[in-house]
Amino acid sequence: PRIAVLASGRGSNLQAVLDAIAAGTLAGDVVGVFSDKPGAAALQRVAPALRWSAAAKGYPSREAFDADLADAVAAVRPDWVLCAGYLRILGDAFVERFRGRTINIHPSLLPKYRGLHTHARAIESGDGEHGASVHFVIPELDAGAVIAQAVVPVNAGDTPELLAERVLGVEHPLLLAVMRLAVSGRLAEHGATVQVDGH
Ligand code: GRF
Repeated sequence: PRIAVLASGRGSNLQAVLDAIAAGTLAGDVVGVFSDKPGAAALQRVAPALRWSAAAKGYPSREAFDADLADAVAAVRPDWVLCAGYLRILGDAFVERFRGRTINIHPSLLPKYRGLHTHARAIESGDGEHGASVHFVIPELDAGAVIAQAVVPVNAGDTPELLAERVLGVEHPLLLAVMRLAVSGRLAEHGATVQVDGH
């Protein structure tokens, strides 16, 4: 299966996917990495021929940027589109074009804390547990069907940075568990409920 990855930042989730493919524990190929940040470290994790990026600032509208992004993604003929730390909201046209095969990893126990600053919000709320979710992408932000979640404790004295690091540690195995289901054809937006142990 062909996997396109959208990433805005560091790309540690992308790296976990690349490492699993290299180790033979995930069957698939990363056929392109796409970014709204031309300087994103994530892009450097793959060969130049697999990189696409454009600064959204240079476009007249969200729709215009999204249309170019969608055409670039479509050109690599992906079976799956993985948003791994992609921080720009995807427009409806993009989402509909790849609907049912676009998934996102989000650092909270959805439906709690859609959007940004999830770790700080979990601490401020006094939550005892926090974590990460992998979900299907629909036009509404971070609101698509949840596929799998992994839970971590919130410890006394946690800062958002400490908590983010703890969550990231469970994101990678969680994402790989879901990607294994995806590439083996066991993941469908309207299929049976999927159970994945994120631990
Ligand atoms: C992860 O916590 C992801 O869930 C969030 O942004 C972070 C990206 O990390 N949306 P990386 O770029 O994969 O290292």
